[in-house]
Amino acid sequence: MHYCLSPPPPTSTTTPPLYILLSIAPLVFFSLSLVLFLFLLLLLLQWRQYPKHNKRLPPGSMGWPYIGETLKLYTQNPNSFFSNRQKRYGDIFKTHILGCPCVMISSPEAAKIVLVSQAHLFKPTYPPSKEKMIGTEALFFHQGPYHSRLKKLVQSSFLPSAIRGSVSQIENIVLNFLPTWENQRVNTLQEMKRYAFDVAMISAFGDIHQDLEIEGIKKLYHCLERGYNSMPLDLPGTPFHTAMKARKLLNETLRKLIQKKKESRRQEGGLLGVLLGAKDQKLNRLTDSQIADNIIGVIFAAHDTTASVLTWVLKYLHDNGHLLEAVRREQDEIRIRIVEAKRDLTWDDTRSMLLTSRVIQETLRSASILSFTFREAVEDIEFEGYFIPRGWKVLPLFRSIHHSEDFFPHPERFDPSRFEVPPRPNTYMPFGNGVHSCPGSELAKLEMLLLLHHLTTSYRSLSLSQYI
Ligand code: HEM
Repeated sequence: MHYCLSPPPPTSTTTPPLYILLSIAPLVFFSLSLVLFLFLLLLLLQWRQYPKHNKRLPPGSMGWPYIGETLKLYTQNPNSFFSNRQKRYGDIFKTHILGCPCVMISSPEAAKIVLVSQAHLFKPTYPPSKEKMIGTEALFFHQGPYHSRLKKLVQSSFLPSAIRGSVSQIENIVLNFLPTWENQRVNTLQEMKRYAFDVAMISAFGDIHQDLEIEGIKKLYHCLERGYNSMPLDLPGTPFHTAMKARKLLNETLRKLIQKKKESRRQEGGLLGVLLGAKDQKLNRLTDSQIADNIIGVIFAAHDTTASVLTWVLKYLHDNGHLLEAVRREQDEIRIRIVEAKRDLTWDDTRSMLLTSRVIQETLRSASILSFTFREAVEDIEFEGYFIPRGWKVLPLFRSIHHSEDFFPHPERFDPSRFEVPPRPNTYMPFGNGVHSCPGSELAKLEMLLLLHHLTTSYRSLSLSQYI
């Protein structure tokens, strides 16, 4: 290859001199060939992902080779991305995002087939980096007997009958936590994460103050969380690498704690106690790593979700002063009852927080913090007149269903009164549906109600202009 090292002769025209064109020609030729080669390679890869027959795939566009419609999804408002395609192609359409061919589902009936009636044909799917970080034996990565065994155990720890005794423990967290905001400007989401994390810790470990390992677990968990959404590049110095190191240490600390608990033979509380005591029909116990992965998995599933919803609740109440007033009145009446009876707040009191509960329900609909979930077709599937090839991702779009005019009139309005009558079956799925639905929904609602009770009865709200 030739390079001109001396300055080019001055020229008055805008066309590059011939000798420059000639010297860069091989480079241009090489680059164009490379681009063409890559383009053909991507076409080939894309083509290999598609079935070689004429069965009817759902309508929709697969976009560019390999990139698909990923750039469109990330450069547009995601709501418009989905709703434009739904208007154009209907409730079931195909697209190609994040390197995967996908089928999007936005009708309640079709979502029910994927999540409930034919759930065995659609397995949960997560990027391998996320599985490694949380722990491959956590229940949400599994299907079949292992999943149902773990699901029963986790569910039993979070049933109303199991958590009704935690009201005072969670209330104590709220009462220690709210005064730390006084006369301060706080970041609501961060504070809600702090609160939801503490609740998740007591749910996982029971009475957490007894064990030395707990502080270590908290620190390592936060380290893990910081790398969770980073690029999965496992090289020294990257956030992913630091998070994976924290994950290994977390395992060791959890194993020590599990060992200690096994030796003490005391009846332990929280999910850890349930998992430690579990035996299957052949009297087999769970292994330490199965216990550790599921403890971390549950903490992970429990705290960011609840914190986001609580942040939205506060935003909606702030934006709708009349609702805030009505919630405050409801909570004041309950507080007066409790004070007059000289007793503590109980589970039954939380059941009488009807309006506050509807505000939470409407927040879960309107904010739809989990816009969709991912499944993967385990075999070639005939689905509502379409063909879904094995390996394609299938995404029930919770947000689109929650924002459909057909099921929630004026979906853009924040209107808790719409929940005075129950929503139509399968149209309201903030906690999912079917075998993988959320086992923590009652705990999440309880912790939100307790925080709202103390926040509205002990503190007044400032208008936004008072902060600025
Ligand atoms: C408002 C807060 C929460 C929301 C909106 C939420 C939402 C969801 C949704 C939609 C799913 C189903 C995902 C799917 O089908 O792929 C799910 C699963 C799950 N959630 Fe929650 N969740 C919340 C709080 C919690 C809490 C407090 C816990 C703690 C117990 C928890 C533990 C789990 C677990 C373990 C799963 C996996 C279940 C399985 O795969 O069988 N979540 N959650």
